[in-house]
Amino acid sequence: MLDYKYRMMFCISLSFFLLFTTTQKHFILIITMKISLCIALLATTATLLNAAPTEKSKTFPLTTNPNFKRNPKNAVAKARAKYYKHLVNVSADGDGEIPLTDVEGDLEYYGTVAVGTPPQNLKLDFDTGSSDLWFASTLCSSCSGSQTKFNPDKSSTYKKEGKSWGISYGDGSNAKGITGLDTVDLGGLTIKNQRIELAQSESAQFQQGATDGLLGLGFNSISTVSGTATPMDNLIKQGLISDPIFGVWFGKAKESGGGEYIFGGINKSKVSGDFTKVPVDSSQGWYSIKVDGGSAGKGGSLSGFSGIVDTGTTLLLFTDDVAKEAGDALGATDNGDGTYSIPCDNSEDLTLTIAGTDFVVPAADLIYAKQGSQCIAGFGSAGMDFAILGDVFLKNVYTVFAPSVPEVQFAKLA
Ligand SMILES: *[C@@H]1O[C@H](CO)[C@@H](O)[C@H](O)[C@H]1NC(C)=O
Ligand SMILES: *[C@@H]1O[C@H](CO)[C@@H](O)[C@H](O)[C@H]1NC(C)=O
Repeated sequence: MLDYKYRMMFCISLSFFLLFTTTQKHFILIITMKISLCIALLATTATLLNAAPTEKSKTFPLTTNPNFKRNPKNAVAKARAKYYKHLVNVSADGDGEIPLTDVEGDLEYYGTVAVGTPPQNLKLDFDTGSSDLWFASTLCSSCSGSQTKFNPDKSSTYKKEGKSWGISYGDGSNAKGITGLDTVDLGGLTIKNQRIELAQSESAQFQQGATDGLLGLGFNSISTVSGTATPMDNLIKQGLISDPIFGVWFGKAKESGGGEYIFGGINKSKVSGDFTKVPVDSSQGWYSIKVDGGSAGKGGSLSGFSGIVDTGTTLLLFTDDVAKEAGDALGATDNGDGTYSIPCDNSEDLTLTIAGTDFVVPAADLIYAKQGSQCIAGFGSAGMDFAILGDVFLKNVYTVFAPSVPEVQFAKLA
């Protein structure tokens, strides 16, 4: 059972959890969302009820911030001012490049991060929608045998800290443990004394997952351990990157998959044309942007909305109204659980206009999964008053995150 504190935190936090299980013939999508009114939307469709038992499932938490605070007293602004001082003369010894593995048809993407000395390699889901760095550890008896468990006793640079941390997700899945400090290598950039969160327990969803944990890339105001400098904060503070940015590219499984994060830089050869700069509202700890509007299908128009740019969310989730507009324009129907069903022969695109530039999500990406004769759309409804620009959108652009400004920049792919 979750304690009262966490229940309260749920009420003011967004937690979006997608469980995707696949067998040869069945896809199950369970989407659970915690929203401001603590309404959990649980997709328990006929599909789920009819589903055959599955051998394995892939789950991952897409967004969590149990310690979300509405007014973090300008902590972010102060931090930014502080970091800028360090940017005058940093040692620019290159960028940290981390190739990604695309899991289960663009469900999630993970990169490998080396923690400790000598390095222990962990598969982490990089998530701009949360701000904790946590992973399975040898302190954890419930962590699965298929996960790599970080062993603090085998790291000469590990320092005990022992603050407790806990993350809970929309369906009650969770992980918790204690903190420590250690060296974290992000694509060759070596962060010293990074606060890490070692799991002492985790729920079944994580045990069945493809990753060992998460690396949160959101703003530090939503770290569950207050006062934590995130890995991105430390890359900047410790002068490891000359440009306080990271560039993200996601491949598509139907092409060759993969993906890439570059800390401190971008990969120009993935980009075509100019970047569009988009101001970010970081007051809630996320990369929240304004979308001017858009279009879908033959002449359907989409209203404007605010949305968070979230690499840790699989789908493109609109507000209810905009999801309905998109659904109407594309002949897609609301399944009543946040997902939409779309005609499997959909040939219509969807376009979002952001800071005056149009970005297209092509027809093929508007079909996320085939489920017998039914197709689940790549878009849905977040059930909140803001949208989540997840991977269905992000895999069609090159994205630069610039937390110090704060802004994001989008460019079309080469
Ligand atoms: C940056 O470092 C160089 C070499 O150490 C030094 O000459 C220069 O004055 C520094 N610039 C600033 C702005 O501190
Ligand atoms: C940048 O993208 C190109 C073209 O896709 C790729 O060949 C290269 O490996 C990437 N470079 C880096 C540094 O990731």
